[in-house]
Amino acid sequence: MAIEQTFAIIKPDAVKAGNAGKIISMIEDKGFEILRLQKGQLSKDLAELFYDVHKEKPFFNELVEFISSGPIIIMALQKDDSINEWRKLMGATDPANAEEGTVRKQFGSSIGQNAVHGSDGAETARQELGLFFTEPTAPQK
Ligand code: RTP
Ligand code: MG
Repeated sequence: MAIEQTFAIIKPDAVKAGNAGKIISMIEDKGFEILRLQKGQLSKDLAELFYDVHKEKPFFNELVEFISSGPIIIMALQKDDSINEWRKLMGATDPANAEEGTVRKQFGSSIGQNAVHGSDGAETARQELGLFFTEPTAPQK
C-alpha cells in the first residue's frame, strides 16, 4: 500500500469529555503522522456541506446538530493505507459493536456520539481534506 492521507475529526462528545489527548496518543502510537491539526466549531452550513452525502438519511438533522454543537478537532493524517488504517483504529460506527482497542469502543457512547470521524475512501478523503484545509497537505519528509 502507498502512503496516503485521510481526514479525521475528534467529535464534540470526545472533545467535551476531555478525551482528545488520549485519542491523539492512540493515533500517534499507531504510527500516523499528523500533518495538520486544528480546533474549531462548525457552522450549521459547513456541517450540512460536510454531511451532504447523508442528506436523505433520517438522522441527517441529528448529525448536523451534533457535529456543530461544540468544539471539534480536525486532522490530516498520513500513513501507509491511512484511510483503512484510521477506520480500523476508529472501530465500528456503533460503539456497541466496536472491537477492544478501538477509539469508539473506548470513548464512544452511542451510534450518534461515537467520538470520531474518518474518511471512507480515497475520493472522500480528497474532498474532506480540501473542504477543511486550504493549504495542500502534501507529504512531508
Ligand atoms: P463517520 O462518517 O462519522 O466516520 O462514521 P461512519 O463512516 O462509521 O458512519 P456513516 O455511515 O458515514 O454515518 C455517519 C455518522 O452518522 C451517524 N449515524 N447515525 N442513527 C443512525 O442510525 C445512524 N447511523 C449513522 C453516526 O454518528 C456516524 O458516525
Ligand atoms: Mg462515514
